[in-house]
Amino acid sequence: PLPLTIAIDGPAASGKGTLARRLADYYHLPHLDTGLTYRAVGHALIIHGLPLDNVSAAETAARQVDLGNLDREALSAHEVGEAASRVAVFPTVRKMLVDKQRAFAAQPGGAVLDGRDIGTVVCPDADVKLYVTASPEVRAGRRLRDIESRGGHADLSEILADIVRRDERDMGREDSPLRPAADAHLLDTTEMSIEAAFQAARTVIDAVL
Ligand code: C5P
Repeated sequence: PLPLTIAIDGPAASGKGTLARRLADYYHLPHLDTGLTYRAVGHALIIHGLPLDNVSAAETAARQVDLGNLDREALSAHEVGEAASRVAVFPTVRKMLVDKQRAFAAQPGGAVLDGRDIGTVVCPDADVKLYVTASPEVRAGRRLRDIESRGGHADLSEILADIVRRDERDMGREDSPLRPAADAHLLDTTEMSIEAAFQAARTVIDAVL
């Protein structure tokens, strides 16, 4: 297969992670969920009881992030995602993590990366860029079903408020705000199943192969 780099960005609970995994599987490419790298930094501060605005502690944690050792399970908690978006505003932290993400993207066969700034900052020369969105209400509903399917409970209006707050922080920060790259293909999945989103993404990708 040809070397192929696929950059996928989008807001919280947009379905970009699920899409990235399916595409990586289908095209036999390694996949990096870059959100996990920011989560690892947030998690390190939480477990050490350090405030989330402690830049030097966040830098130390970022330096120690090991892409081969990201524990999705331990990093999946809601408050870890919240902490991740707090430490993700620090340019020095971003630079350390972006260097590691670029090294991953540089694998000879290519890779799939998903996050907030892949098409704009991490892999500006990606072969394909997708920007996945859905309305905040639909994203909140998907997140709720996700939590319930794992036996959990949550309140739809609280999830929606969290999503809106996280979007504002990620789109409003100075360094690498969430936004579609100029050459990204927009995929609005508000009225799309995951299967339909996968097929739409395949159509875009197969056109460059
Ligand atoms: O995608 P996920 O919810 O795991 O991301 C957690 C947080 O990490 C995001 O809200 C965002 O602030 C940050 N992030 C980022 N750049 C990325 C990936 C994630 O700033 N490429």
